[in-house]
Amino acid sequence: MESKPQYFKIRLHTILPDTPLPFDLFVKINDRLLLYVRQGDSLTKERLATLLAKDTGYFYVKEDDRWTYRNFMKSIIREDQISVTQKAQLLKESALGFVEEIFEKPDVYQALDESKPLIQDFINLIDEQPEALSDMISLSSHDFYTYNHSLDVAIYSLGLGHVLGYDKKTLENLGVGALFHDIGKRLVPVEILCKKGGLSEEDWAIIHQHPQFGLDILINKPEIDPGIIAACFEHHESWSGSGYPQKLRGEEIHPFGRIVAITDTFDAMTTQRSYNTPMFPREAIAMMKNQLKGRYDPHMVEAMSEALFHLNPSGAS
Ligand SMILES: [Fe+2]
Ligand SMILES: [Fe+2]
Repeated sequence: MESKPQYFKIRLHTILPDTPLPFDLFVKINDRLLLYVRQGDSLTKERLATLLAKDTGYFYVKEDDRWTYRNFMKSIIREDQISVTQKAQLLKESALGFVEEIFEKPDVYQALDESKPLIQDFINLIDEQPEALSDMISLSSHDFYTYNHSLDVAIYSLGLGHVLGYDKKTLENLGVGALFHDIGKRLVPVEILCKKGGLSEEDWAIIHQHPQFGLDILINKPEIDPGIIAACFEHHESWSGSGYPQKLRGEEIHPFGRIVAITDTFDAMTTQRSYNTPMFPREAIAMMKNQLKGRYDPHMVEAMSEALFHLNPSGAS
C-alpha cells in the first residue's frame, strides 16, 4: 500500500522568483495541497506577489524532496549573482521555517542534532562574508515568537562569538545552545506562557524555573556539549551574582551563559512585544553599559557592540 506523501512547509520569501525549481512546490488552499509550481518551472514575480498579498503563509514541499530543496538553497546562497543582503535574507527565511518545524518536535535530541547543519550554514556565510551578519541582524524580525526570538538570539550569539575569534566547532555549539536556550520553557504550562495580563507570583516562580527545566531536559545525554547545557542553564545568571538559578558570579558563569544573557536581553529590548516600545540597538547597548552596569560581562558587552556596529557600517537598524 502506498503511503500518503508527507510535506514540510517553507516560508514564502524562501523562493526566489524566476528561478527554475528542482522540486514541486505546493500551496495549501482550504486545507488541501495544490501543486503550484511544477519541478523545472519557475515562480513568476506576479504569482509570488499574489500569494504574498493573500497571506497564505507557506509553501509546501514533499518530504522526499527535502535534500533536493536543501542543496538547492545552498547552491543559491553560494551564487555570485545575488547580493549579500539577498543571501542573508534567503538563509534567514529558510531557517525560520525550519526552526519552527524543529521546535515542534517532541524529541529534543533529534531537534538539537537537526539544527546543526543550519547553524553551520550561518557560520559559513558569516565566515565567507562577514557583512552578511549586519544584514541578518537588520532583518531581525522584531516581533516575538519563540522561534523568531530563538533564531535571533542564535544569530546575535554567532556574531558575538565571531568577534571573539571562536573556531567553527565552538561557534557551532554556541549557535545550537543559543537556539535552544529557552528549551526549558517546554515544561512551563502554556496557560502561564500565554497568559494575557498580569502573572501571579506563583506563575513567575514557575517561569523562573525554565533554566532548571532546560538542564533537566538535556542532562541525560552525556554527548551534549557542556556549553550547550550552560547556554540553557546559565543564561539568567548575572555577572554581579544576582541572577538565577545558581547565583553564579563573574567567570563562574560559562562564557556561553554570559553571551546568551546579553543576546537574549538585547533581543527582548529591541523587539516589539505587546507591552513595550522597542529600543534602538544603540540604546539597548547603552543601557547594558550604564543603568544595567555590573549585570553583564563587560568584555562580552564590548564584543556585542562590535558585532552590531563595527561589522555593520550603516549601524544595525
Ligand atoms: Fe530564558
Ligand atoms: Fe530567551
